[in-house]
Formats: sequence, C-alpha cells, structure tokens
Amino acid sequence: MSKKLVHGLFDDDDILMSGVKAVRQKGIDIDEVYTPFPVHGLDKAMGLKPTRIASAAFIFGIIGFFFAIWLTWFMMIEDWPQNIGGKPSFTWLENMPSFIPIMFEMTIFFTAHLMVTTYFFKNKLYPGSAGINPDPRTTDDKFLMEFFVDGDTSNLEAILKDSGAIEVTVKDIVEEEKRNLWFKLPPKSASVVVILLGLGLSSCSSDEPMREPVSVYMPDMYHSVAYEPYSEDPNGINSMEARTPVDGTIKRGYVPYDIPNTNEGYQEALMNLKSPIASNDENAKYGEELYNIYCISCHGINGDGQGKLVQNEKFLGVPSYAASRLPNISEGSIFHVITYGKNMMGSHASQLTWDERWKISQHVLKLRSQLK
Ligand code: HEC
Repeated sequence: MSKKLVHGLFDDDDILMSGVKAVRQKGIDIDEVYTPFPVHGLDKAMGLKPTRIASAAFIFGIIGFFFAIWLTWFMMIEDWPQNIGGKPSFTWLENMPSFIPIMFEMTIFFTAHLMVTTYFFKNKLYPGSAGINPDPRTTDDKFLMEFFVDGDTSNLEAILKDSGAIEVTVKDIVEEEKRNLWFKLPPKSASVVVILLGLGLSSCSSDEPMREPVSVYMPDMYHSVAYEPYSEDPNGINSMEARTPVDGTIKRGYVPYDIPNTNEGYQEALMNLKSPIASNDENAKYGEELYNIYCISCHGINGDGQGKLVQNEKFLGVPSYAASRLPNISEGSIFHVITYGKNMMGSHASQLTWDERWKISQHVLKLRSQLK
C-alpha cells in the first residue's frame, strides 16, 4: 500500500490545540505541525521529547573553558612568556586571575556559537538546504498538521474534520516530496539587499566627524571663559597657558643617572660606579623576586642564559652571566645595562625604579658567582 500525506489546516490556535489532543487521544502520531507563531504548550500536546540543547550548551561551555586554559597556558606561559605590568609570567596558576576574563569569554563564545550552529544544523537550516514548509499560508494566519500515513486515512480525516479543520487534503506520496524553498530570495533581490546594507553601513562613516554639537544651549557651560589648561594663551610665557617647570626639576622618586649610553659610559660604570644601597639579605631577596619576573624569560632562573624564550628559540644571543665573552661585570655595569639595555636587550628603566635596578644587580652578581 502506498504512503499517504495528510494535511489538516486550521485557522485558530485554540482549535488546533484541541485538534492535536483529539488526534493523540486516538493514538495517532503527528509528524509535524506548522504554525505562524510559537504556540504555547504545543510541544507537550504533541508529545515531543524535551530539547537536549541545554545539555549540549553545557558541554560546549566546558570545551570553551578548557580551550581557554590551554590557550592562555600555551601563549602566555609555554610558547612566549611576556612580562606585562610586572606580573610573574612563568606559571599558569600565578597568572590565573588575569586569565579569568579570557576563560569567561571563551566559555560564552563556545556555548553561544556552537549552540547556534547546532540549532541550525539540527533543524536543517544550513545554507543551500531546501525549505520544508508545505504550505505558505502557515506563515500568515493558518496552522497545519501533517501526517505520513500507511493505509487507510478515512478515520484520521474524520477526526480532523470533527475537531474543526477548515481543510483536509490527502495526497499519494509518489516519490520523495521535493519541496522548494518557497521563501528563498531570488539571487537578484538578495544582491539588492546586500548593496542596500552596504550603503546603509557606509553612511555611518564620514570624513568630518560630528564632534561638536550643532547648536549649544548656553555655550558657557561647555566652553570655559578662562583659558583651557595646555591651550594657547597670548599673555602667557611661550604663548602657552601651562608653564614649563623650573630648570633642573625632576619628578618625585626619580633619581637621575648621568652616565651616558655609550661605550665609554659602559666602561665608566663598569670600573667606577658603586652601588649606593646596602648589600643585605632583604635587598638581595627583593632583587631575586624582581629578577624572576623581569629577566628569567631570557636569562634563565640561574643566569645561565637558558630562559624559556631562548629554549623556544624566540630570542637568541643571551649570554650566561659567567660567559667568557663578558667582561668582569660589576654591579655598576649591570645597573648600566638594565637602565639602557644592550644590543638586543631592551632598556628596563621604564619598568624598574632606580633602587629596584640596584637590587636586581645585587642578585645578578650572586648568580654569576654561583655559576663560576
Ligand atoms: C628579551 C630578552 C632579555 C631580557 C628580558 C633581559 N635580557 Fe639581559 N641580555 C639579553 C641579551 C640578548 C644580552 C646580550 C647583549 C649583548 O651583549 O649582545 C643580555 C645581556 C645582559 C647582561 C650582560 C651585559 C654586558 O655585556 O655587560 C646583563 C648583566 C643582563 N643582560 C642583565 C639583565 C637583567 C638584570 C635583566 C632583567 C631586568 C635582563 N637582562 C633582561 C636579553 C635579555
């Protein structure tokens, strides 16, 4: 016996609901119901299983979470440790607090995107898929119950009519029904939409950004009558509103360093510059802490020049502190090098204060004596 396709059309969602219940009471399974809007309780009435998308979402979230852990570990700890804002960058756990935003975002990102993708594919809404709606009226104001029936359909037809269907149709399924995507945009109108969207977006930019309001109510509230700080002032020294500091002014906490960044300067620091801070355990310990943040990615924890970046071949030419190519480096020369950098090594003066640099120098000397 051939398979038949039965459609029952309704024009009211309440009547549809009672129809669904009536059909199910007779033990007949409904294959699909098409509605122009979500009908509350319809899934229960049809006996659909609850969606499993929530469990999928949970799993996607976990994947994102672990991906973020791996990502931050690989990028920031394993492959290319960087010191950002003086945070210790050599174990994942110590840095974990700064990675929380990434873990959070990745969890959400994976959940949201994979859920949408799953939803679309599960519902066959991927690009190029054929539309499955059998009757366009269900996108307007009609409701459609669909059955694929083996054998006699008269019983079902009767139930549908009794429960208020305004139209019942029965068709033989000759071959697999080929339904066209009736709502698919023809290519021409699709390109019109894209062009319009592009035009719309391009209108958002302008060469002359509207920084100033067009009309200002009581402009004195916005523009002060007095000169703005750092603006031009015809009466001021240098025609500027702000005054330059007195010659020789230094900022608070800054200690000037007079030796120039030249070969002679290096020699001068090497021979004559002495540490002005006490050489004691407390300073050495602090110096070690800072060294372990700022220097070990290149120089290694014991100063042998085998830091992570060297091992990963990101950075080459880092000498051991005891290397014979170095002169007999002194606290002074080390301070000089931290301050100005040397060849491939950059200056650390902007990250480390004057006395921090001296404390690190103490620690480097200690490492050097242990390497010998
Ligand atoms: C990005 C990698 C890198 C970092 C970080 C780094 N260095 Fe260096 N360092 C180098 C390289 C490369 C050299 C070799 C420079 C040369 O002579 O060509 C060097 C050389 C040195 C020297 C020997 C210089 C000399 O010839 O007298 C000292 C001392 C030194 N570094 C101390 C430090 C200290 C202390 C820190 C942390 C504040 C530090 N470095 C951070 C790469 C680095």
